[in-house]
Amino acid sequence: MGRDVIIFDTTLRDGEQAPGNSMTAEEKLRLARQLDVLGVDVIEAGFPSASDGDRRAVRTIAESVRRPVIAALARCHDRDIDVAGEAVRPAARPRVHVFIATSDLHLECKLRLSREQCVERARDAVRRARRYTDDVEFSAEDATRTDLEFLCRVVEAAIEEGATTINLPDTVGYALPVEYGAMFRAVRERVPGAERVVFSAHCHDDLGLAVANSLAAIEAGAGQVECTVNGIGERAGNAALEEIVVAGRVRPHAVRFNCGVNAQELFRTSQLLSHVIGVFPQPNKAVVGRNAFAHEAGIHQHGVLQNGLTYEIIRPEEVGVARSSLVLGKHSGRHALERRYRELGYELDEATLHQLYEEFTALADKKREILDEDLLALLHGRFHDAPETYRLTHLQVTCGTVSAAAEVRLGGPWAGGGGGGEGSERGATASGNGPIAAAFAAIAKVVGRQVEVMNLTVQSVTPGRDSLGQVLVQARIDGKTLSGHGASTDIVEASARALIHALNKVNHADQLEDQSLNASYFWGV
Ligand code: KIV
Ligand code: ZN
Repeated sequence: MGRDVIIFDTTLRDGEQAPGNSMTAEEKLRLARQLDVLGVDVIEAGFPSASDGDRRAVRTIAESVRRPVIAALARCHDRDIDVAGEAVRPAARPRVHVFIATSDLHLECKLRLSREQCVERARDAVRRARRYTDDVEFSAEDATRTDLEFLCRVVEAAIEEGATTINLPDTVGYALPVEYGAMFRAVRERVPGAERVVFSAHCHDDLGLAVANSLAAIEAGAGQVECTVNGIGERAGNAALEEIVVAGRVRPHAVRFNCGVNAQELFRTSQLLSHVIGVFPQPNKAVVGRNAFAHEAGIHQHGVLQNGLTYEIIRPEEVGVARSSLVLGKHSGRHALERRYRELGYELDEATLHQLYEEFTALADKKREILDEDLLALLHGRFHDAPETYRLTHLQVTCGTVSAAAEVRLGGPWAGGGGGGEGSERGATASGNGPIAAAFAAIAKVVGRQVEVMNLTVQSVTPGRDSLGQVLVQARIDGKTLSGHGASTDIVEASARALIHALNKVNHADQLEDQSLNASYFWGV
């Protein structure tokens, strides 16, 4: 049996920091609730001084998610620390996480501070953070490129001021496992008071070594690992939570640690994140990629049928991937649908079941076999992360090899018609160099917003010609970058639905901003 290791999830902070991964406060809350179900010990909910939205998200999570520690990041600046401290104040177990770069490169070129000034900043920051909570984490950013003597000095100062967790990040993903482990051993041996604190690993994947480095740190005595779902994060990403957890389960004698993560929730958490940010892991991603358990070669299939262990070191069920996926069809009733969702881990309330059943029967008219993936796509498409201000009521597209034209009607907040529509609908026509571009141009016209599409991915949810197509779109709408998703057996319709989903989120974000501007006078007083 190994030691207990704290799983510190930073999907909502470091993960979100990467371009295209931004989430609304509601989306962060939904993910935080799932991370709680997954069983992580610490949720780093955000960097509150970075934006008003992040401050609000951290505070809401602190109020609503009660079991895990809720952490907020702050630079070693008084204002950052105060904003972070206030944001996590409502948490049952709040943590303030302060960081400062310690490598000469960062000190000279980025911060323009001497080593002495850096130590003083670290001291002041930890002391200030302790005014808010006894649980203070200190990070020496770029630790792996920091002079070891100096690193030990900073860590010693942070411990003296009351830091309870010391994080030694491989900020630029530069270290090799043997070096990263050695750094932990050296710091733990040399720094007085090291035995009183938890050491933490935080690895980036620039050389593809983030998980290997995290495991090396655990071997060298780290008591916490910082990681993200699907390994999302700055540049090449952070260490993937699911890979660390599964490595510990599959190789318990080689990587000796215990953690409280419920592995059966791994796949569900990965799927939820993918739907929220609009980015799916690459198909060959370990543990949660769509091909992670697919066996194409005949010789492999034969082996797996005889005995799964021949080519499978992880049983799909262990990480929450259902093995049987053929389920329902046109004649299945509401009870069958409800039961299958329950088997997949979702308890539905009456209203959601009712809506889903309607969508399910409409889909079953177009598609003979409804697979689990179809059901998940329908479910994720229904999450109310924003009120449905705009609704697609009509879409007609004509296209050829040169250009396309689209006619769109949306239900919306307009009272009494006008603008070319009927009742509370409005419509517009537009052309484009393809059917999706034309539909998007028409939608932008109807809502009167500037829409710039940054990324659009189409995925077939299941194999086969009648497959449901799932579209994830990332768009900059009047300066805000958000993602939306939509599903349909027609990919132009799925794309239109995805863009409308993103528009609804932007609309909601605008409203929340207005409210929070009105309320800002009272905040934190
Ligand atoms: O990579 C890094 O150094 C960080 C710190 C802020 C912990 O994310
Ligand atoms: Zn990081």
